[in-house]
Amino acid sequence: MMQDFISKFTSFYGSAPTAAAMAPGRLEILGNHTDYNQGFVLSCAVAQNTAFALRRKEGTVCTLRDFRSGKTMTFDLANLDDVPSNGSRYVKGMVKELAKRGFKVTAFDAAIESTVPLSAGMSSSAALETAAGYAIGREFGIELDKAEWARCGQGVENNYLGLKSGLLDQFSSIFGRKESMILSDFRTVEVLKTAALPPGYCIVVINSMKKHNLVDSEYNVRRADCEAAAKVMNRLVPGAATLRDISLEQLAEAKNEMSDREYRRALHVVGECTRVMDGIKMLEAGDIAGFGNSWFESHFSSRDNFENSTPELDYLVELARSIPGCLGARLSGGGFGGITIHLVEATAAEEYAKRVSTAYQSKTGVAAETIICNIGDGAKLIEL
Ligand code: GLA
Repeated sequence: MMQDFISKFTSFYGSAPTAAAMAPGRLEILGNHTDYNQGFVLSCAVAQNTAFALRRKEGTVCTLRDFRSGKTMTFDLANLDDVPSNGSRYVKGMVKELAKRGFKVTAFDAAIESTVPLSAGMSSSAALETAAGYAIGREFGIELDKAEWARCGQGVENNYLGLKSGLLDQFSSIFGRKESMILSDFRTVEVLKTAALPPGYCIVVINSMKKHNLVDSEYNVRRADCEAAAKVMNRLVPGAATLRDISLEQLAEAKNEMSDREYRRALHVVGECTRVMDGIKMLEAGDIAGFGNSWFESHFSSRDNFENSTPELDYLVELARSIPGCLGARLSGGGFGGITIHLVEATAAEEYAKRVSTAYQSKTGVAAETIICNIGDGAKLIEL
């Protein structure tokens, strides 16, 4: 993909790029909505990437060519507060985050190419922010540590686009390791360990192709509920700053101190942190059946407690329980639509994906996209 991308850039703009980078999408394996509660997540980068290349030019107006959609966009760096309505917002937002950190970026011609599915819950936006940040950083001599690059991408979402997301997406895109899942701590903002899937198993991604249109506001409301529950817990448990500090027992004791909704949101988050840590132990002990089962438990908690599932996602997970070869399935990412991930025996994966998509199509009339996923490496510069 890279050679072809660089040649396309050169023929589109008439000269070669001077900096380029690529960054992958990600899958949240376990640990749903735990990142902004300073909790734990098991995630991985995928083999699908977004590539970004640029070359400097005069003036203040940047051009961005998207080879996947065939669209050409422009945006003006003279007014960084003006948010574009198209995909160039992620690039311009990154320039703004860098400006806030004291780095001056001048105009450039840029292009993107991507194999990360859009609006699915695989973090195509984090992949774009990260690839753009890395390439801009190379061209303009900006050096930041990896966690700070992740914060820049998160800053684009939080400050520029109004989505109060955590660090998971950018962090996984940057810290992902080929063939490994990463266990991350979002209090200390570090990778605690890596864990591979046992040989003979793979992850099948099934995209419901349905996205709820209030996603951003629903997401922010969930975050506010978690913070309200944490405030109650802080009153009851000395030193508990976020839901990450609470055990299931402590939460159960505090049930009558908060609204039922806040309790169920908190139960999901505390349960997810527990499932992540237990899941790692199961993987280490070779208990793949137990690990798979925790994916189902995670999904049911999303459905019943966090209410970030949809009938389509529920149906895909229900299918996972009846079609042979699958050990566990759950929604992955923010929720309210997007993808489910399925832990499947590798030899059964193709047949499994076919059977799920056939059943899904006959029930919903929608053709689901299926991907037998490979775990890829984190973001990197492309040597030109
Ligand atoms: C989205 C957000 C992440 C994380 C997940 C849910 O992907 O961008 O920060 O909160 O949802 O775990």
